[in-house]
Amino acid sequence: FNVPTPINEPVKGYAPGSKERAELQQALKDLKKQQADIPMHIGGQEVRTGKTQKISPPHDHQHVLGQFHEGDASHVQQAIDAALAARENWAELPWEHRASIFLKAAELLAGPYRARINAATMLAQSKNAYQAEIDAACELIDFFRFNVFFMQEIYKQQPESLPGMWNRLEHRPLEGFVFALTPFNFTSIAANLPASVAMMGNVVVWKPANTQIYSAQVLMELFKEAGVPDGVINLVYVDGPTAGEVIFNHRDFAGIHFTGSTGVFQNIWKTIGQNIHKYKSYPRIVGETGGKDFILAHHSAHPRQVATAITRGAFEYQGQKCSAASRAYIPSNIWDEVKGYVQEDLKSIKMGDVEDFSNFVNAVISEASFDKLAKYIDAAKADDSVEIIAGGNHDKSKGYFIEPTVIVTKNPQYVTMCEELFGPVLTLHVYDSQEFEKTLDLVDGTSPYALTGAIFAQDRYAIDLATKKLVHAAGNFYINDKPTGAVVGQQPFGGARASGTNDKAGSMLNLLRWVSPRAIKETF
Ligand code: SER
Repeated sequence: FNVPTPINEPVKGYAPGSKERAELQQALKDLKKQQADIPMHIGGQEVRTGKTQKISPPHDHQHVLGQFHEGDASHVQQAIDAALAARENWAELPWEHRASIFLKAAELLAGPYRARINAATMLAQSKNAYQAEIDAACELIDFFRFNVFFMQEIYKQQPESLPGMWNRLEHRPLEGFVFALTPFNFTSIAANLPASVAMMGNVVVWKPANTQIYSAQVLMELFKEAGVPDGVINLVYVDGPTAGEVIFNHRDFAGIHFTGSTGVFQNIWKTIGQNIHKYKSYPRIVGETGGKDFILAHHSAHPRQVATAITRGAFEYQGQKCSAASRAYIPSNIWDEVKGYVQEDLKSIKMGDVEDFSNFVNAVISEASFDKLAKYIDAAKADDSVEIIAGGNHDKSKGYFIEPTVIVTKNPQYVTMCEELFGPVLTLHVYDSQEFEKTLDLVDGTSPYALTGAIFAQDRYAIDLATKKLVHAAGNFYINDKPTGAVVGQQPFGGARASGTNDKAGSMLNLLRWVSPRAIKETF
């Protein structure tokens, strides 16, 4: 038998007057009047501690959507105990049943959960309808469907046997529990990190970013309705150091599935290293971390194409995709044209809340993020060596709004050309069109990261040269396309260097990190 052949979930357009737009608007309305009281989920139980934190939309920080209940070290311990108690039954359940649960999750998400998960992502993470749709609906449905398909491929892989013997490979789950530490910027990633681990027969303690708890609650309901048994995925809201203290000292800690900052990941790695003698097995460490993603144009590039890549690649979801372009290198011969198009595009873009579907840009995720970005922009404004050719304004009176901003610098090592800002700020260097090769070295050497990057050229030799010289500069490399929007099953996603362990989300490679195979030889 074979599981259904996966197809990418078609993206809904939410056109004015469409049924899907009306459903989404209704879901937004329903959520807004609800005042959610969000518990932790441990061993299938809802846990409310009474110690609560408010949840507000980043684009309207005085509005309260609800609250979540915060836990402490004892809740992390309870979550580990619940996971370990669920482990044996889950690990022994034939994989087809695990597959069925996640295929059902995909169908629920494609149907009855779609409007609600999109609405929750829009409100709490300040994503517009289209960005929510490609994330919380389509990408997550794709993760479920494709991972089930890859899972089947893994279990089918068996070694050769000679006459008189039978060799088998048993893809056992890890011996212990896995910790999923998940980010705010993609609801799909937040769900996929625990789900892909659980799919392979493991049990999970899941800690989402506080700013994603609102949509994590919907995901937890989805998992439950799809049939994930109690205790397999446990959701806790505990501050990082407290959670880490319990988890990284536990003998049964078997791995971490992480997306977040490079600094946090490196500290976790060090802690795991220091505690390595305490664990039953060497833990699996899988992480996607920072980025300083680039757009590089050659003098043969089409200016219109480059400008579109800048507008969409740097500013969709306020530049808060891990894949978002944040530095660009444009040759002098096409600069005037590219500049004209970018300025025109950005002038036509609307910024505001998520309920007006014509807003392209919404708010950045938090006050901390806003303050950091505003500081860099203000420093650029005060610096005569750089020019701001678009944007530059910011306002946090109602929500955390930062205008899409393009800083042009003559200095390819200018601070915002090098540091990760994680917001709607692109720094751009105009280089002498004849110095493409030298610019390739700059692209490769300016940043410690290597997540995504894009080269624009019509000249095939230039494309070839860039592909070769930038071989380690990006885990996802785009030729004549923006560096964002990897599609599950088409462009497996992840970077190397300081950007992560490059275990490619939504691929067989990733799922293989969550099994510990046993080779069995029997002779006759
Ligand atoms: N997978 C997303 C993209 O490619 C980023 O996480 O845009």
